[in-house]
Amino acid sequence: MQSENQKILVTSALLYVNGLPHLGHMAGCLLPTDVYSRAMRLMGNEVCYIAGTDEFGTPALVGAESENMPVQEYVDKYYAMHKAIYEGWGISYDFLGRTSAPENIETTQAIAMQLYGNGYFQPRKIKALYSVDDQMFLPDRYVIGTCPHCGYENARGDQCDKCTRVLDPEELINPRSSVSGSTNMQWRETTHLFIMLTKLAPIVAAWLRTKDWNKLTMGIANKWIDEGLQDRCYTRDLKWGVPVPDSIPDMEGKVFYVWFDAPIGYISITRQMLPRDWEKWWLLSKGADKVKLVQFMGKDNVPFHSITFPATLLGASDDYKTVDVLKGFSFLNFEGG
Ligand code: 2FM
Ligand code: ZN
Repeated sequence: MQSENQKILVTSALLYVNGLPHLGHMAGCLLPTDVYSRAMRLMGNEVCYIAGTDEFGTPALVGAESENMPVQEYVDKYYAMHKAIYEGWGISYDFLGRTSAPENIETTQAIAMQLYGNGYFQPRKIKALYSVDDQMFLPDRYVIGTCPHCGYENARGDQCDKCTRVLDPEELINPRSSVSGSTNMQWRETTHLFIMLTKLAPIVAAWLRTKDWNKLTMGIANKWIDEGLQDRCYTRDLKWGVPVPDSIPDMEGKVFYVWFDAPIGYISITRQMLPRDWEKWWLLSKGADKVKLVQFMGKDNVPFHSITFPATLLGASDDYKTVDVLKGFSFLNFEGG
């Protein structure tokens, strides 16, 4: 039973704006967060429920392209629709923020500089597909070609939508750019920032051993640790995202991977809501040592909240609040889907 007058910070996953919240999101994320927050408030606790939309990265770009809209207009439109749906359901969040807000850009860049300063963000040269006609490096999703498994001619470089197999762009037969349709492409060298999960692994594993979450959530988190964490590329050649700070060399025109800035959104949305008091919820030295942080999400989001986001925070500083209770839910099956 929860003791009274505890400070409880509650979050529900920040959904992508490339579609609308569906019944699965409601059942596996929004409603449990709402019920928990209401119950904790009724019991006399001080609850701060942070919600929002995840607006950067290829999901928003691809969505905007499919509706033939400028991406800013597209995310504005979907933010308004998400808000209307949540209000219709009566979701009792304290603030519904956005990851494209200036506060998220600032907070993400500040945390990136902390990680870089601590040696957990390292630049590495890699080979990536460059479209000569589009004059840009193509993210995996922007390369289209024939799936080597099922022969589908419009498979994307990250996944085949027909047979659902995960792909790498070099596996595609007759690759072309989804931007212009051009086949004039070259593998070129470019520098990206990698998060050093190999170095952070012992810290994250020790932190995870202090947790006792539900079986589904622990199972997913422990599997990642047991299989061994790999360094991951955390920047992209895109025009839509949080720009990598100028003070990190060789990063001109690059933005952070959406799964870097999205969970930082929980911190920055608290900052949007409480410009003067957000630190009391997120910095241990400012009172967050007395906060209980509870996060709700579907099981597909669990690796990012149990491994990579804690790794980000622990690698950046020992002063950030990390999750106490992480509640992952299985998917809702409805009408056979
Ligand atoms: O699965 C999704 O819809 C993601 N946008 C969830 C992100 S949660 C948090 F990290 F922002
Ligand atoms: Zn296929």
